[in-house]
Amino acid sequence: MSGATTVHMYGNLKLAFDEGVALVTLNRPKALNALTRGLVMELNEVLDEIQERPSVRAVVLTGAGNKAFAAGADIGEMAELSPAAATRFAEYGQRVFARLESFHVPVIAAVNGFALGGGCELAMACDIILASETAVFGQPEVRLGVIPGFGGTQRLTRLVGRQRAREITYTGRRVKAAEAERIGLAARVVEGDVVDAAKELAGKIAANGPRAVSLAKRAINTGAETDLTSAMALEAQLFGLCFSTRDQKEGMAAFLEKRPAKFEGK
Ligand code: CAA
Repeated sequence: MSGATTVHMYGNLKLAFDEGVALVTLNRPKALNALTRGLVMELNEVLDEIQERPSVRAVVLTGAGNKAFAAGADIGEMAELSPAAATRFAEYGQRVFARLESFHVPVIAAVNGFALGGGCELAMACDIILASETAVFGQPEVRLGVIPGFGGTQRLTRLVGRQRAREITYTGRRVKAAEAERIGLAARVVEGDVVDAAKELAGKIAANGPRAVSLAKRAINTGAETDLTSAMALEAQLFGLCFSTRDQKEGMAAFLEKRPAKFEGK
């Protein structure tokens, strides 16, 4: 893939577009990309900007610097919150992370160091986590006298099961890359540059039928939150919906004509 072509700087984030892939970089490296309310608000704005570009087929999310993806919600900003303000902070973060989780294109987290607390929660809201060999995950909130507030008690449990989620959350211990892969928290550990690997993966996704990828995401995410019978019914509905798209006509025609498909995302 060629170098990024367009770069937009936000106060705490960087957004670059490279062909069909949007690269979002959390950009507070001196604070290990800790998540302030302002950063989370900008993440929401970045999603608006990406949504306005129909050519984007996948998103890669990473952290600036070589130490952290994100070391959690910003502790300095949280320290003096009232109970009501803390609830609002958690609800806001949860809303933006939920938007990321159901975003119309897949989001790949390229975890290049610490992904702790809110950083781990952010990665878990993404579709696929790729971990560098130096990646370190964890939900250390209890060490600060609080619990995870951006979805960690729920998404970690769904990813790794209740037993492991309890052990990780109650101790607040660190989970290194190899363990994260073994327990299903990360899809895989990558040797070398994890952002390059994420871009390569995003490029492979971008080459497929965009409507189909989007509908597969919806089937997996919605199905995971419902019973098997309802999830199967949804899958059949969405499978049928594919047959109303030009991408399905093109994908199958291209196969039968022994040529590469040219998908339009329609
Ligand atoms: N919030 C604010 N600042 C943070 C931060 C955070 N979560 N994590 C790191 N920083 C800052 C440090 O204060 C430090 O700033 P200064 O240079 O100005 O002192 C800078 O980033 C570098 O950090 P360290 O000097 O601590 O670096 P280290 O290599 O010694 O340690 C670390 C790295 C183990 C990640 C350590 O920084 C750490 O433990 N961070 C906090 C992790 C954490 O507890 N996260 C959970 C937050 S709570 C949460 O996220 C709630 C929720 O679910 C919504």
